[in-house]
This record gives sequence, structure tokens and C-alpha cells, in this order.
Amino acid sequence: MPLPGKRHLPAALALGGIAIVHATIGNAGSVQAQATYEIEPREPEYLYDRTCGYCHGHNVAPIIRGRNLPPVLIRTMVRTGIGAMPAFKPTEITDVELEALAQWISESEADPEEHGR
Ligand code: HEC
Repeated sequence: MPLPGKRHLPAALALGGIAIVHATIGNAGSVQAQATYEIEPREPEYLYDRTCGYCHGHNVAPIIRGRNLPPVLIRTMVRTGIGAMPAFKPTEITDVELEALAQWISESEADPEEHGR
């Protein structure tokens, strides 16, 4: 009895995202398919804890929560970096995630557990 063939998981499943396949019929009747992947944006709180909170609030960098910092300033700092803070690329934090993150930090309450530099 032949063994069932090895199955491959769809790439989208492996990435935990949603695959959107656009298929178009070209002029010559050829079919062109293009797959794009949309990854579910990560929550601001998760990103802050995992990424920013590594330095901010842990004696390495200034406190940034509870200061009503303008979101545009936060977004700019994240994309360009400043001093000892590295820049984060859109491949690391997407524009959609950064917008929500900056808004969340700007509106967040100060956390008494956090310690600034
Ligand atoms: C490797 C440590 C590190 C990480 C990670 C980090 N920062 Fe920073 N950040 C710093 C340091 C250090 C400064 C102060 C730089 C200076 O003034 O020279 C700073 C400054 C800032 C400022 C300006 C604060 C002010 O008082 O003007 C903002 C806003 C900021 N960071 C946001 C973020 C956000 C949002 C993240 C997460 C995406 C993040 N940072 C991740 C180290 C870090």
C-alpha cells in the first residue's frame, strides 16, 4: 500500500497570517498569480513590553509613558533612533503597528513599577 505523500503546510499557515492571492488574466490570456501575506498586527501593549520596555522603564532609557508625548515624536524616534536607541525598520515594527503603539504610549498612564534612566 503506498504511503500518503508528504504534505506541505501553506506558507501563510506557517507564518500565522492570511494569504491573499490575486489572480489576473493577462492580455495574452496567461494567468498571473501573486500572493501577498498580511500578518495580524501585534497589540501595542505586547510590542511595548517586548521591545521598548527592554530599555524604557528599566533604568536604561527615559520614562516615556504617562508623559503625553506626541505620537508623531514617538514614531519619528522609533524610525530614526536617537543616541543609544536603535532605529526600528518597518520589517520589525510595521507602520500600522507603530501608529497604534505611538498612540497607546502617548495616552498611557505612568506605571509606578517603571524606573527611568
Ligand atoms: C536599546 C534600548 C532602547 C530600546 C529597545 C528602545 N529605546 Fe527608546 N530610547 C532609548 C534611549 C537610551 C533613549 C534616550 C536617547 C537620548 O536622549 O540620547 C530613548 C529615547 C526615546 C524617546 C524620546 C524620549 C524623550 O524623553 O524625549 C522615545 C519617544 C522613545 N525612545 C521611544 C521608544 C519606543 C516607542 C521604543 C519601542 C519601539 C523604544 N524607544 C525602544 C533606548 C531604547
